[in-house]
Amino acid sequence: MRNIVLIGGHDETFTHFAGLGFQFTVLQLPSAIGPNLRTLTDHIFAVADFEPDTVVAEIARIMRSKQVDYIFSFTEGGLLTAAIASHRLSIPGLDLSACELCIDKQLMRTFLEGTEFAVENAACRTAADVETFLARHPRGLVLKDPAGSGSESVFIVRDELELSAALTELRKDGFLMLAEEYLPGREVSVETLTVDGKHRVLAVTNKKLHRKSLAEEQHIISPDVVDATTFDVISAYCERLLNQISYQHGPCHIEVKITDDGLSLIEINNRVGGDYIGLLVELTTGVSQLRETLRCWSEMDRSTSVGPNRARYTYAASHQFYEPTDFEHLRSALRDVDIIRLHIEPTPLRLDRPRTNDDKIGWVVLACNESEPFKRAIDYLDVTCS
Ligand SMILES: Nc1ncnc2c1ncn2[C@@H]1O[C@H](COP(=O)(O)OP(=O)(O)OP(=O)(O)O)[C@@H](O)[C@H]1O
Ligand SMILES: [Mg+2]
Repeated sequence: MRNIVLIGGHDETFTHFAGLGFQFTVLQLPSAIGPNLRTLTDHIFAVADFEPDTVVAEIARIMRSKQVDYIFSFTEGGLLTAAIASHRLSIPGLDLSACELCIDKQLMRTFLEGTEFAVENAACRTAADVETFLARHPRGLVLKDPAGSGSESVFIVRDELELSAALTELRKDGFLMLAEEYLPGREVSVETLTVDGKHRVLAVTNKKLHRKSLAEEQHIISPDVVDATTFDVISAYCERLLNQISYQHGPCHIEVKITDDGLSLIEINNRVGGDYIGLLVELTTGVSQLRETLRCWSEMDRSTSVGPNRARYTYAASHQFYEPTDFEHLRSALRDVDIIRLHIEPTPLRLDRPRTNDDKIGWVVLACNESEPFKRAIDYLDVTCS
């Protein structure tokens, strides 16, 4: 049986891999070892961190007693390390150059200069650099940590007031931030799967933020997110983008803005979308991006592995809670849709600052085959839990 080493991952992701005919060896942080991982495999190695040296040393140790056929990761914190380990140990897995491009926002912008995906940008090290960039881009700019994720250290600056607020947060000169022109339009994400260089666009996801923050509150995959023509335009754009970065294998979560003049690229991540986007994709297309990424390497007879992909629902959504909510009221309001996941922390959160993704106190994933009950559920969440 082939042995796949996985680096990290949310415990929920380990439910996807059973029955594929692989043995799994998983390197995981002690605090993240959960029941689903334990069900998948006994070969769990606790590591203190996912630094490349730690992980490469651990895999090299494993290789003394066991063959390792592939190294993979499906989590932001493990991606680059998995790619480096593959590269250093000459074991197939994530492509290092595509991974570096996706993780380093500055590298990605530079790589795409002169293409249809170009966005004006500059590396800023001082307040004066930021001011100069803003003067050249009066529609506004976005300042971000080139290696950031989870919208941490992302500042939208459209006027002098927002500029001084961002600079106060950055405090002193000597920082390194990427400035980008502000891209107007409606934001969606695109969930894709590439196997052997062939791309499939699985879904377009609508994203809604929590109040005036960058914390993600709601994701919806349904035929109503964009019309069929727009879906085709977005699909073709993302396939060209994946070709441009020579992406060969695995999932991507691509963030784009839609305007009347076309599409602009926020960023591309070589992983499944955050929160429950991967589950929404599976509910509405039948395709697990995690499972399918590994399945093509399986030696198992395809007819005996778990059956064809089957979509279960037309409409699916996840909603993250940042404020306390009445559990019984919620259940009753959502009685006409299927509740796939529901979790709310007992302790209410009271904060007098804008929320970040880490502040969520619960979530619900729901799905339905009819439009009206789905819309009613979303309306309830929008009005009562927002
Ligand atoms: N150039 C831009 N123009 C307009 N909005 C932007 C731009 N860059 C980022 N944003 C907004 O800020 C959000 C976070 O930015 P970005 O995706 O680059 O950071 P991130 O840390 O990777 O966030 P996440 O991990 O949540 O996707 C985007 O989803 C988008 O709403
Ligand atoms: Mg992003």
